[in-house]
Amino acid sequence: MKRRYAGGVLIAAALMAGAAWAHGGATGIVKERMDAMSAIGKNVKSIGEMLKGKSAYDPATIETASGAIADHGGAALTKLFPEGSLQAPTEASPAIWSDWTKFSEMAGLLQASALDLKTLAGQGADKKAVAGAFGKVAATCKSCHEAFRIKK
Ligand code: HEC
Repeated sequence: MKRRYAGGVLIAAALMAGAAWAHGGATGIVKERMDAMSAIGKNVKSIGEMLKGKSAYDPATIETASGAIADHGGAALTKLFPEGSLQAPTEASPAIWSDWTKFSEMAGLLQASALDLKTLAGQGADKKAVAGAFGKVAATCKSCHEAFRIKK
């Protein structure tokens, strides 16, 4: 019971992460990474809605969506954060560059957890197993944002 509750909270947090964002006026690398994050957010939202029963459960769609998330993780993510790129309206924290090791690890974790989810969904795993793996992906969003994103 407790585990399922925690999973529900993570899914809700993930949906919120994907729900509302505004990046009006962003240009260059800041816009590029906001677009990448938005793409991640959309995929997370579509998976989350499926797991919450708002849309029909379809592992093949989850496989594609988690693959897209994985493609935006790891080095594809860190390369969008050249040192000191803090141009407005960025929400990136300067801590990214003072704690680059941790930031890169989290980008790697996003990719690894998304690939785990992709594998499970590709095997046609049941909803409960897939929800567990999705919770791990969502946890990486939350922990990285808490450490490295300044909410404006
Ligand atoms: C390795 C760290 C990291 C991980 C992991 C991460 N993010 Fe982000 N995210 C950031 C940072 C930093 C920003 C702020 C970027 C900026 O404003 O320049 C951000 C911004 C965003 C935004 C706002 C984009 C915009 O247009 O302003 C969304 C949406 C988002 N992330 C969704 C997600 C979701 C969903 C996940 C998990 C599947 C995730 N992120 C995982 C670091 C991360």
